[in-house]
Amino acid sequence: MCGIFGCILKEGQAAPIIHAALKRLEYRGYDSVGEATLDEGKLYVKKDAGKIDEVHMRRNLDDLPGRIGIGHTRWATHGAPFQVNAHPHFDCSDPPKIAVVHNGIIENFAELRRELEDAGHVFRSKTDTEVIPHLIEEYLNSKQFATKGNVDSEFINATIAAIGRLQGSYALAVVSTSDPDMILCARNESPLVLGIADNAWYFASDIPAFLPLTNKIIFVENGELVVLRENLLEIRKVADGSLVSRETKLVDWPPEMVEKQGYPHFMLKEIHEQPRCLRNTLRLQEKYLELLPTFLDRAREVIMVACGTSYHACLAASYMFSKLSFLATHPVIASEFTEQHGKSVSIDSTILAVSQSGETADTLAAVETARQRAATILGLTNVVGSTLTRISRVYVGQQSGPEIGVAATKTFTSQLSVLSQLAIRLAKKRGKVSQEEIDLLEEKIEEIPDIVENIVETQEEKVRTLARKYKGKQCFFFLGRGISYATALEGRLKLMEVAYVPSIAFPAGESKHGPISLITQGFPVIFVCPPDETRRTVIGNIMEMKARGASIIAICEKGDEDIIKLVDDYVEIKEGIPGVLSPIPYVVPLQLFAYYMAIERGCDPDMPRNLAKSVTVK
Ligand code: G6P
Repeated sequence: MCGIFGCILKEGQAAPIIHAALKRLEYRGYDSVGEATLDEGKLYVKKDAGKIDEVHMRRNLDDLPGRIGIGHTRWATHGAPFQVNAHPHFDCSDPPKIAVVHNGIIENFAELRRELEDAGHVFRSKTDTEVIPHLIEEYLNSKQFATKGNVDSEFINATIAAIGRLQGSYALAVVSTSDPDMILCARNESPLVLGIADNAWYFASDIPAFLPLTNKIIFVENGELVVLRENLLEIRKVADGSLVSRETKLVDWPPEMVEKQGYPHFMLKEIHEQPRCLRNTLRLQEKYLELLPTFLDRAREVIMVACGTSYHACLAASYMFSKLSFLATHPVIASEFTEQHGKSVSIDSTILAVSQSGETADTLAAVETARQRAATILGLTNVVGSTLTRISRVYVGQQSGPEIGVAATKTFTSQLSVLSQLAIRLAKKRGKVSQEEIDLLEEKIEEIPDIVENIVETQEEKVRTLARKYKGKQCFFFLGRGISYATALEGRLKLMEVAYVPSIAFPAGESKHGPISLITQGFPVIFVCPPDETRRTVIGNIMEMKARGASIIAICEKGDEDIIKLVDDYVEIKEGIPGVLSPIPYVVPLQLFAYYMAIERGCDPDMPRNLAKSVTVK
C-alpha cells in the first residue's frame, strides 16, 4: 500500500511537482520515498527511508532534472523500510536504465525472482516490486515477446510481456532510457487514475494528488496499460495490445480541500468538517437512496462487510436496520467473510459493502467471493470511480470529500448518516414504523449537522482538558449498550490508532463477565450513554464501575443530571437526538479525545505508526 505519481510536462521541471503530489499521497504510506526523472536520455534517481519531509531535508527531492518523472511514497509490505527497498526499483544495469514504482503485491514474486536469478539477474532489494524491472529487462534483451496490437516499441512490448507474467495486485509505472520520452503505467486491482491538463499528463494512485493541477481525470481499469508521451496518451489492453477509448471525467473537489486550511493536523480539520459533510449526505441523489432500500427489502439475507471504522458503521447500521426497518443484517469483518460466510452465500444473498476508499483489499475480496456466488452487491463509499463502485450493482457515494488523516472521522459520521437514511427509507417501505416516528426521525436527522457543530464549538476545550487530565493512563474502557456499543468500539479504535493507548470496548452489559476484574482505583472508563432505552441499565453499570474505584467519563445528553452527578467528568450533547441516530453526534467527543490524547502524548495523529489510510493488500 503505497502512493505512486508521475508526470510528463510540456515544459518545466517534474521533480518539485512529483514531490508536492507525493505529499498529498502520503496518507497511503510514509516509510520511504523516491523519485526518478529522465533528462536528455539519462535516468536520475533519489530515494531514501523516512517520511517525505525528512528525506527532502536530507536529499532535496526537488533538484532532479527533466520534464518526465515518476515517484513513490511507500508503506512496506515486502522488505523493511530501508533505503534499498524504497522505490523506484531498477534493472541490473549500472547506472540503471529501467526504473519502476509500484503499489500492490506481486504474489508470484518468489518464483519470478528465482527464475530471473537463474538467468543471471542480480537483485538489490528484498521487495516483490524489483522483479518487474528485471522481467522487462529480460524480455528486452531476449526479445522473446510477441508483438501485440501493432505496438511498434520494443520497450512497450517487453513491458506488456513482463506484466503478463505478474500475479497479484499492482498499479505501476515504468520509465526507461531506451525510450526516454515515455512513461508506461498499468493496473490490476490497485487504483490508478490519469490527470489531464493542457500542458501535462499526470498519473496517480488517487485523485487528491492532482487536485491543484487538474480536475480532468480518467480512471484506468484492471488489465490496462497506459502509454504517455508528450503528445500522446494511449490506453491499451495488456491481453492483446488493443486500444481502449475512455472518456475524461471532471472532479469537483476544490484543491484547497486537500490542504490543512490552518489546522495543525488533517485529523482535526476533518473532525471540524463533519457538519458540512453531514449536510452533504442529506443532499444525496434521490435515485440511489431509493434503489438501495428496494434491494434490501427484497433480500433474503443481508450481510454487511467492511474493515476498521467502516465495520463499526456497519455494526451501528445493523441496529438501525433492526430497530427501524425490522430487517436482520449480519455485520461481518471483511477479512473473516470468506471463511465464515463464503459457502452459505448464494443468489439470494445481498452484500452491502462499506468502504470509505472503495479499495480496501479485504473488503473487495469479500465482495469477490460473494460475486462468484451470484450474490447482489451494494456499495457505500466515498470514492466514486473506486473499484467498489465499479463492481457494485448499485452504490451510494457519500460525498465527504477526500479524507487525508489516516484515522477515519468525517467519513465515519457520513457513513452513519447515509446508513440511517437507508434504514428510515426501508422502514417507510415496509410500513413497520408509524408515520409519526418516521417524520420525527427525518426531522432529527436534519438537525444532526447543527448538533455536531455545537459539539465542536462548545465541547472541544472541555475534551482537551480531559485529555490533559487523563493523558498518563495506560488503558481505557469504552462501554455502551445497544447501538452505543458501536460508538464505544469506534472511540476505542480512534484512541488506540492515534494515541497508542491500548484500550478495551465492551457492550456495557458484558463488562461484568470479565473486564471488570481489571478495574482498580482511578481506572478510566468512558461510558457512551445517550438517553435511549439503555440509559437506565447503563446507570447501573456506571455504579458497578464506580463502586470499584473507576474514574468515570460520560458522554451524555445535556442536563442529564442522573448521570452527571454520578460521574467524574462528562461531555454534553445537545438534547433531542433519538438513540438510533446517537452514534453520529456521540462519537464526535471521542474523536476529539483521541486527537488531543495523541497531541498530549506527543504522537502525530495524521501519521500513526504502522497504519495506512487505504489498505490495498490482504
Ligand atoms: C484502514 C484505515 C482505517 C479504515 C480501514 C477501512 O485500516 O486506517 O481508518 O477504517 O482501512 O478502510 P475503508 O477505506 O475500506 O473504509
